[in-house]
Amino acid sequence: MALPFLLLLLLFPLAESKLNVDYYNKTCPQFLETMGRVITDKQLSSPTTAAGALRLFFHDCMVGGCDASLLITTNAFNKAERDADLDLSLPGDAFDLVIRAKTALELQCPGIVSCADIMAVAARDLVTMVGGPHYTVRLGRKDSLVSRASDVEGHIASPNMTLDKIISMFAAKGLNVQEMVALSGAHTIGFSHCSEFSNRIYNFSKTSQYDPSMNPKYAEGLRKLCANYTKDTGVSAFNDVMTPGKFDNMYYLNLQRGLGLLASDQAMASDPRTKPFVDLYAENQTAFFDTFAHAMQKVSIYMIKTGKKGEVRHRCDAFNSIQTGETKTTA
Ligand code: HEM
Ligand SMILES: *[C@@H]1O[C@H](CO)[C@@H](O)[C@H](O)[C@H]1NC(C)=O
Ligand SMILES: *[C@@H]1O[C@H](CO)[C@@H](O)[C@H](O)[C@H]1NC(C)=O
Ligand SMILES: *[C@@H]1O[C@H](CO)[C@@H](O)[C@H](O)[C@H]1NC(C)=O
Ligand SMILES: *[C@@H]1O[C@H](CO)[C@@H](O)[C@H](O)[C@H]1NC(C)=O
Ligand SMILES: *[C@@H]1O[C@H](CO)[C@@H](O)[C@H](O)[C@H]1NC(C)=O
Repeated sequence: MALPFLLLLLLFPLAESKLNVDYYNKTCPQFLETMGRVITDKQLSSPTTAAGALRLFFHDCMVGGCDASLLITTNAFNKAERDADLDLSLPGDAFDLVIRAKTALELQCPGIVSCADIMAVAARDLVTMVGGPHYTVRLGRKDSLVSRASDVEGHIASPNMTLDKIISMFAAKGLNVQEMVALSGAHTIGFSHCSEFSNRIYNFSKTSQYDPSMNPKYAEGLRKLCANYTKDTGVSAFNDVMTPGKFDNMYYLNLQRGLGLLASDQAMASDPRTKPFVDLYAENQTAFFDTFAHAMQKVSIYMIKTGKKGEVRHRCDAFNSIQTGETKTTA
């Protein structure tokens, strides 16, 4: 029984087992150094890049794997992933960062480094740069041959979903409740547009203008901030009102005090399945960082493509060969 199983494993190694940390050592020895330089420059000039790049990477991975499918631009034949409603708020700075890194790397080692690996390393380095944990990212992902807006729905959670629904969406990717709570700690940095939480602060119910699970002063501040949000649609609030730019465990402390921004965030502080982890991470940042780092490693190998299942794109926003996006769906 054991021998045929081993043989099978040897014949069909898991895609993720083909990844390794030294993947570019010979073919692009400057890879990590160049990434470090581009990332530092970009983050210093646009401090919101870190949050954007982390969210970009997460969204890319959840929809058909970490394969840079989210970077492809729409053309006459194909509405690409990034133009799905759920991805429209992804910030330009995050896309710009990947393009800058790719441009620098194509000059040094043309055709070698995949956009998917750039995204994985960018997310990791930026989390570390703003105070979060460092974790190992194995390399060798190939870029997708497909990118479709219609593939997104059902894979990206919204704040108005029930926790049941969100838990099952994460479970479908092999992420358990504890990992879901830890990954949501990503909301310790970055912003959300008022439209993502407006239902919590205006006309919430017959008896209350705002969601009573919110701290009243916090709700009042958000009501003022967002007063004009239907016309001025760019208005956004910090996800973590206390330490907005720092990757720390303040998100969980906020939830305990009714300072969660999104309904889905705040729900985690009261649901008996998630509350124990919220309380643990509020008390112990090391425990949060450990689970977050491990869960990010899991996310970053989700459904990756290796070998002929993908390609190394010349440009991150276009497939190497012109195609409709439909022709290779069975690849
Ligand atoms: C649990 C389910 C989740 C829901 C419902 C959710 C929803 C959202 C929403 C609505 C926004 C605001 C987008 C905007 O208005 O521009 C946001 C921002 C963000 N999300 Fe999530 N998210 C979830 C989990 C995650 C996870 C697992 C990560 C990463 C590991 C993540 C990373 C981020 C980051 C970094 C931002 C800030 C983006 C920026 O400032 O540009 N989120 N999320
Ligand atoms: C590959 O490069 C990294 C970073 O420069 C280095 O730490 C590692 O030891 C190298 N691995 C091999 C097998 O040369
Ligand atoms: C939930 O949010 C999504 C994305 O913001 C939106 O498209 C959808 O209409 C909302 N659903 C409900 C029931 O409010
Ligand atoms: C709240 O409800 C009142 C009365 O129904 C309405 O006039 C007002 O426009 C609503 N405000 C928002 C922000 O939806
Ligand atoms: C609301 O936003 C619109 C569009 O950006 C702007 O023209 C208007 O001056 C804003 N009103 C207030 C009170 O800020
Ligand atoms: C915090 O969590 C870490 C990692 O799980 C653990 O090693 C440590 O003992 C915890 N610290 C406290 C004070 O409980």
